[in-house]
Amino acid sequence: MSQHEETYNRSVTEWETHAVESINHVRDVLKDHVSPLLPPNAMILDVGCGPGEPAASYFSNLGHRITGLDFAQSVIDIARARVPNAEFIKTDILAWKPTGEYDLVLASHCMYNFPFEQIRSLVFKYTNCAKEGGLVVVGSSTRVELLEKGEIQFDVKGWAEGVQNVFLGHTFRSTYALADTWRRLLESTGLEFMKLDQRVVQHPGSTERNLASFLIMRKTAKNPLLGPYPWPETLPKPLPSGSSTWVAWQNVLKRMKSDVEMVGDVIRDDKYKKILYIGIGIEGMAKWDNVEYLDLQEYIKNDTVIPFPNDTFDAIIAWGTLSFCPSQAFVQEILRVLITTGPACVILHEGAPDNEFINLLKDGAGNKLLHPGILLAQVEETLKKAGFADTAYSETESFLNLADIVEDRRVEFALELLAAITNDQQDVQKSVKANLIEPLKKHFMGRPMEIAYQGVILTAKRAT
Ligand SMILES: C[S@@+](CC[C@H](N)C(=O)[O-])C[C@H]1O[C@@H](n2cnc3c(N)ncnc32)[C@H](O)[C@@H]1O
Repeated sequence: MSQHEETYNRSVTEWETHAVESINHVRDVLKDHVSPLLPPNAMILDVGCGPGEPAASYFSNLGHRITGLDFAQSVIDIARARVPNAEFIKTDILAWKPTGEYDLVLASHCMYNFPFEQIRSLVFKYTNCAKEGGLVVVGSSTRVELLEKGEIQFDVKGWAEGVQNVFLGHTFRSTYALADTWRRLLESTGLEFMKLDQRVVQHPGSTERNLASFLIMRKTAKNPLLGPYPWPETLPKPLPSGSSTWVAWQNVLKRMKSDVEMVGDVIRDDKYKKILYIGIGIEGMAKWDNVEYLDLQEYIKNDTVIPFPNDTFDAIIAWGTLSFCPSQAFVQEILRVLITTGPACVILHEGAPDNEFINLLKDGAGNKLLHPGILLAQVEETLKKAGFADTAYSETESFLNLADIVEDRRVEFALELLAAITNDQQDVQKSVKANLIEPLKKHFMGRPMEIAYQGVILTAKRAT
């Protein structure tokens, strides 16, 4: 059990007495701004729900269907007794995999203990499991006296991580951001801003003041997995395919779980007898009898022609390819080597908008370098026009494992890898490294042995 879980487990009653003004604020926000926007019988997900108050009991009395998530067993026990009509699941919200689609995803005062990277992943997860047109509501607060004394140092993106804070007599390290910063993050997942409700909350018998902010956002039609939004105005240029870039990517892939395994169902599906796998570095991958392997470098060297005749494969899996070659030409080549009639399938794996590795590259090399989301969306459209009407997106998570690198060398090792991926030229690599030292140090504080590689898979199927 983590120290945080234990603290919440022990302190639930104390917290309810202490936080009465905060609970009143949450209830007012739900009553004034959220409830009027919900359909009858709404499906609601209450993340970090606490002991059934204020959200679950309020919504349950209105006839809505609530699922509450919390990792503290004593909190879950109280919630179940108080709100018998609701469902409560004991889980860590980081580990939890969303299943349903919700009219409202509420995350009220429950994300202080996560570093920014995990907050970003969580927010994408919330938006992903909200229905189209549904609401995502996030509540957070910042200590006013720390703000007034200038003791919170926000980084260039507006986040302050690891701020020491005492909560119910326990020392926590908290992540803080002001409402504008939260709003930008929420918008980047494809949400539209509707309302901000702020109140300075002071708990009885305490001098501590907290600026509590609730952002009420609506999910617009965009798919969060194709973010971050807004999309770039022009398409990102393909990454340079020089030698250092390739070698570095191959080194990255060797340290991750075999990606063919992630789409193994297609390989095992006897509808698809002949499959082509295209990837950056295929050395050391699990080999399957029905799969041909093509290194993307061969495709590029070969004048961007897939070295197989027309009408050869009934499924194609391509991993991380769109960022390296003009994607429309690539998809035309895919379509050329696919069979022209009968069931066929295209699977494309790209980095997700919360991909830690790609976001580090963006921090070091400038924001416009990579945007797999917009490339995937364009390819999906082309595939649909070509008869691959059944399309779906799903998420994956791999890890770039750095446990074998001694701790003192980990930042340096990751710097070399990221700089080599960005550019062949020494002077550019030097400036990339300089930009990445602090972000990498911060990264390894939260996740000491690895860098997560969150992915999106587009599956496009043709039935006949
Ligand atoms: C300050 S309380 C807020 C409760 C309620 N949402 C509210 O706004 O009044 C934070 C809750 O989040 C839960 N929590 C914190 N971190 C969590 C995690 N990683 N997974 C699941 N629950 C978590 C705690 O157990 C606690 O019940």
